[in-house]
Amino acid sequence: MEKGNVIAIDGPSASGKSTVARKVAAALDWLYVDSGAVYRAVAWRVIQNEIDPSDQDAVATHAREIQANFFVESGAVLFEMAGERPGEALRREAVNRAVSPVAANPVVREIVTDWLRGMRELGNLVMEGRDIGSVVFPEAAFKFYLDASPEERARRRHAETQEGLSVDAVGASLQLRDQIDSRRMTAPLTVAKDADIVDSTGMTIDDVVAVILERVRLARET
Ligand code: CDP
Repeated sequence: MEKGNVIAIDGPSASGKSTVARKVAAALDWLYVDSGAVYRAVAWRVIQNEIDPSDQDAVATHAREIQANFFVESGAVLFEMAGERPGEALRREAVNRAVSPVAANPVVREIVTDWLRGMRELGNLVMEGRDIGSVVFPEAAFKFYLDASPEERARRRHAETQEGLSVDAVGASLQLRDQIDSRRMTAPLTVAKDADIVDSTGMTIDDVVAVILERVRLARET
């Protein structure tokens, strides 16, 4: 298959997108892209520069100056921002708190959307996010919307975090981000009209991966 095909996997926090998208990409030998990591990296730069994440003008000015470099490594599209690879810093609670206001900034969205579209030059993509099927690649061949109950999502994220927060505190942090992500004016979290919805509550990761791969296989055969 030529490069530049896209499988979009959208959904709220901790719906299982990352693990599922990684496995789908590995099974197809396509490149995995975590678009949330790119927004997190912009938020991380904003915090490092002591800019208030909700100061729209200051964030926009800073975002325009960021030099980002994207490359392929171990089956994924990774990046350096301002010459640095952010690594584990992206998952810190300070970044969790800053990322939704930063990602609601229309200038940040325009810049990151351009970066994400440019990644098609690197190969076939399995890209996870909030607006991949609706805004970034509305023409994507495959669009999935992954969901799970709020309780299940809080449990899953709690099992991954290492900052000693309770399940309730993790659930509250997720809920706050979901609200900002769903209510923002630019590219809110929505189900693209032609997306397949998969509710992963009670499903294993491998069940979800199998559902997606089966749909892709069927579509390729017809
Ligand atoms: O890993 P988790 O699902 O918690 O979040 P993420 O995918 O790392 O995304 C972090 C934040 O980036 C989200 O809460 C959104 O505010 C923003 N985001 C976005 O606005 N659009 C995307 N395509 C991806 C992420």
